[in-house]
Amino acid sequence: MTNQYFATVARGLEEIAAKELEDLGAKNVNPDFTGVYFEGDQALLYKVNIWSRIIFRVLVPINTIKSKNAEELYKNVKKIDWSDYLQIEQTFAVNCTGKNPQLNHTHFTALQIKNAIVDQQRERYNRRSNIDVKNPDILINAHIDDDHCIISLDSSGDSLHRRGYRPAMGVAPLKESLAAALLDIANWTPDIPFLDPMCGSGILPIEAALKSLNIAPGLSRNRFNFEQWPDFDAALCDRIIDEAMEQQKHELAAPIFGSDQVLEMVRQTTINAKRCDVDHHLKLSQVTLENLEAPTDHGIIICNPPYGKRLGNSQELGSLYKLLGDIFKQRFKGWTAYVLSGNKELTKKIGLRTSGRIPIYNGSLPCTLLKYELY
Ligand SMILES: C[S@@+](CC[C@H](N)C(=O)[O-])C[C@H]1O[C@@H](n2cnc3c(N)ncnc32)[C@H](O)[C@@H]1O
Repeated sequence: MTNQYFATVARGLEEIAAKELEDLGAKNVNPDFTGVYFEGDQALLYKVNIWSRIIFRVLVPINTIKSKNAEELYKNVKKIDWSDYLQIEQTFAVNCTGKNPQLNHTHFTALQIKNAIVDQQRERYNRRSNIDVKNPDILINAHIDDDHCIISLDSSGDSLHRRGYRPAMGVAPLKESLAAALLDIANWTPDIPFLDPMCGSGILPIEAALKSLNIAPGLSRNRFNFEQWPDFDAALCDRIIDEAMEQQKHELAAPIFGSDQVLEMVRQTTINAKRCDVDHHLKLSQVTLENLEAPTDHGIIICNPPYGKRLGNSQELGSLYKLLGDIFKQRFKGWTAYVLSGNKELTKKIGLRTSGRIPIYNGSLPCTLLKYELY
């Protein structure tokens, strides 16, 4: 059976996520603002959750209701037969996005929906499901758009960008999903040597290794919310997981390098890489930019130097960006370099001609990915 799905994704990554979904077998793929509509069967839903490197979650719309105001929302949510989706013994939570003039606080909107659901349960069974905002069995997503509300079930639960390999830390790490998207945007493929010379906690080299070894990111996850649904097909899900494990590779096709001037960062990268079992594949070292040499005669560099808003001071960073440009020019002939930065004044200091400028959001920070062909 073909179902409608909606994948949520970071702003600016809609097109690249659409391409990923098509490659996974999605049909009628249609990118929209911070999301991608697509169609497919239940196997595709499981496959996307297990394999996607770029999206946050997959929503399955169950109803669109009129919701001009709180009363109308409550009344129409209560008309949905919630016993199809939520058993009394199961916990649930409601996430809400969007607003209209009368429903302009997402917490308030979510509360109306929650009240309507538990009131229906109480009236029918004299009992109700408990709320669990951290780890609900059933996660309901409500999106208010003008005078209506799209109600969906969240098949993923915790965001898919949390692969589980990254502990809390002090630098400004990229989200795993953004790192994976940058590799795709840079047209990096596993046969091309890769280097991040300012690797911090190592998200870029680790995502490159996961991709190169064809390791499905969902394999290291504890659970997906679709496992709690009444239609959960455990045999189908196991088959997709088994296939994913069989498709893993044991060797990289080309080397992946990560370095940083701070030893603690190299250690952090090693710990993170160990947690997803790719540490022995990476070539990691403590090197400052001044001492950096090209490890091969061609390859792709992607890095995000500190850019002032989050780390360091803009003035001090000027010389770092100038050095980056000089090193690229003098020592990396034959390579293509990409620099992600949120500070235009700093990137001017690189002093090389760009051959591409791609707007990207790093969280809520508007950034640019600058491309340099080095010859
Ligand atoms: C914004 S962080 C990179 C974050 C990384 N992409 C991640 O996802 O964790 C910038 C990194 O550049 C490193 N760095 C700053 N100056 C450097 C230099 N001169 N040589 C090498 N690394 C440097 C810092 O130690 C820091 O780890």
